Amino acid sequence: MPKPLHVIILAAGKGTRMKSALPKVLHRLAARPILSHVVELAQTLDADACHVVYGHGGEAVREAMVGGPELHWAQQAEQLGTAHAVAQAMPGVPDAATVLVLYGDVPLIQAETLHPLLTAGRDGLAVLGTRLAQPRGYGRLLRGDDGGLVGIVEEKDADDAQRAIDEVNTGVLCADAARLRGWLARVGNANANGEYYLTDVVGLAVADGLHPAVVLAADADEVEGVNDRQQLARAERSYQLRQAQRLMTEGVALADPARFDLRGRLRAGRDVFIDVGVVLEGEVEIGDGAVIGPYSIIRNTRIAAGAHVDAHCVVEGAELGAGARVGPFARLREGTRLAAKAKVGNFVEIKNSRIGADSKVNHLSYIGDADIGDSVNVGAGTITCNYDGANKHRTVIADGAFIGSDSALVAPVRIGRNATIGAGSVITRDAPDDALTVARAREQRSFAGWKRPTKA
Ligand code: UD1
Ligand code: CA
Repeated sequence: MPKPLHVIILAAGKGTRMKSALPKVLHRLAARPILSHVVELAQTLDADACHVVYGHGGEAVREAMVGGPELHWAQQAEQLGTAHAVAQAMPGVPDAATVLVLYGDVPLIQAETLHPLLTAGRDGLAVLGTRLAQPRGYGRLLRGDDGGLVGIVEEKDADDAQRAIDEVNTGVLCADAARLRGWLARVGNANANGEYYLTDVVGLAVADGLHPAVVLAADADEVEGVNDRQQLARAERSYQLRQAQRLMTEGVALADPARFDLRGRLRAGRDVFIDVGVVLEGEVEIGDGAVIGPYSIIRNTRIAAGAHVDAHCVVEGAELGAGARVGPFARLREGTRLAAKAKVGNFVEIKNSRIGADSKVNHLSYIGDADIGDSVNVGAGTITCNYDGANKHRTVIADGAFIGSDSALVAPVRIGRNATIGAGSVITRDAPDDALTVARAREQRSFAGWKRPTKA
């Protein structure tokens, strides 16, 4: 029978170097708490239980994780060291388990990197190391004459020869739960920091006659922790680059993988083209052959095949039909539904409205709470006056209608089928089908013989 896997995530540290009121593990990587990436990793590994050791900003950390997978919380009231931190979670871990220790502030590790560690450590002990050109600050891996791991020494406790070692401890380790429990009970704090070091379990394992294993992570970026905002920004870039590479592998064309941000999930069809500076947030779906122009922001939106979002659009909570065209400089808000081949042009804002097939809202309009039929032309500067100061009302524009430029449609109001509204009208009552309706303050007049004023 396979042993159950219990993951213990250490997240009690203060994160002083972030210089922030927010607990470190709640800072955002791709718009989600750093910690949630580590929890997701535990899920990817099919962990049977996931324990989080929390301390600083404890309640905020717990609250931020509500709604995610089940977590077992262990409080570490005082940060007495990494061994002490792990010990806080051990009462919830059965002897028969394998323990994997992860850090809440090391979010980029890949499951493939951990698989060999789990195999090597499940019945004994294995630590995840890496080689660093600049190993300063890290615990160094000490190897015996036969090359086996015999201990880990922290920077502060190391001598010059040990500091020259470039193989470092990432902090991640895997161990048999019963043995780990025994070692933790024997870890002392007689060191430069006066802390209970988790790294001391290596020496204790060797003393017990075991041969702790080392698994080296090939990619040092993967195991880099987030301690300050520079590291957070670097982690964000590596995360984004990895996503960009995955999407390109799946067939998405990115103009520049270094200028692409996905803060959520993208489902993309074939031959989707995404130009530079695009930010995708939440759940986004982009159909075959669709194009997203430069510097557009798309959030929780479905874009059908062949649609084209031009430069500098902000699109949120919308649905774009096949072949729809949007922008440049358009804003589509929550509840916007564009039917096939609908067209929305520059400086147009749309909210909670449906625009029918082949209809056009090309310039400078506000369309809110409207139902617009098929083949409607909404002239430049048309405004739906949907709000009376207390309530919102709907505007209905039936198929084939033509709204002259600079019209105000005061809702609730209905514009009939194939109706025409004269430019500059303020429409307060329903306009009938097939007729021209004009509602201006005054009819236009011309004054023959009128003279322009002259300079005095
Ligand atoms: C630790 C390792 C070091 C390794 C380095 C990798 C020890 C003694 N040293 O050092 O070998 O090279 O990580 O980054 O383990 N934490 C708690 N409670 C505590 C102390 C720490 O939850 O009492 C958490 C922190 O929030 C952090 C992690 O454990 O996520 C590591 O703690 P940190 O203080 O950063 O350890 P380092 O001194 O960097
Ligand atoms: Ca650290």
